[in-house]
Amino acid sequence: MSYLLSRKSIVPQWLIAPGPDDEDLDYMLQAAVRAPDHGWIRPWRFIVIQGEAKEKMADLFEKALLARKPDATAEEIEKERGKPLRAPLLVTVAVKKTDDKPDIPMNERVLSGGAAAQNILLAAHEKGYGAMWVTGTPAYDPVIKAGLNLGEEDQIVGFIYIGTPDREGKERNRPDPAEYTIHWNG
Ligand SMILES: Cc1cc2nc3c(=O)[nH]c(=O)nc-3n(C[C@H](O)[C@H](O)[C@H](O)COP(=O)(O)O)c2cc1C
Repeated sequence: MSYLLSRKSIVPQWLIAPGPDDEDLDYMLQAAVRAPDHGWIRPWRFIVIQGEAKEKMADLFEKALLARKPDATAEEIEKERGKPLRAPLLVTVAVKKTDDKPDIPMNERVLSGGAAAQNILLAAHEKGYGAMWVTGTPAYDPVIKAGLNLGEEDQIVGFIYIGTPDREGKERNRPDPAEYTIHWNG
């Protein structure tokens, strides 16, 4: 079966070292910038977080949690800090809201970012890594955006966790596309 038809998510806690080396990461990012992009505006930012930077990301997740919930318990803080530490490498995919091409609406920028994120997932799978696209509250949190040097109106499309799967991972029941397909004829 082709890698296109065998892609599946592997949860971040099942992703272990080694993460992608520079060459494989570059391959994934080359795939990302092949995303369709209306107006050639290149709205994407791929924020690569690995090694010691993961601890800084954990600090940022904690800071954001405490801004949202100043009375967070030690357990909640520990859980939040643990999120970005789960896999060897994390790519935050974001899109910029810029004023240079106002005719390209934000939703088209987000769609292009989504296509880039999917290309990263596919390229990771092709190279033998496991990966998963996650959002959750942190993706919409202004403290996280600011910490990643994103503007308030920029959007985080997702956090893509990448690593070596330590197990096969769950294969979900894939639907028959016919159930969602309409051959329209007027
Ligand atoms: C925009 C977006 C955000 C997502 N956010 C989460 C998330 O925060 N947590 C989660 O468990 N799954 C999330 N998912 C779903 C997983 O990435 C994954 O697609 C799902 O678990 C189904 O697995 P599969 O990719 O093998 O079909 C998100 C998917 C998309 C497209």
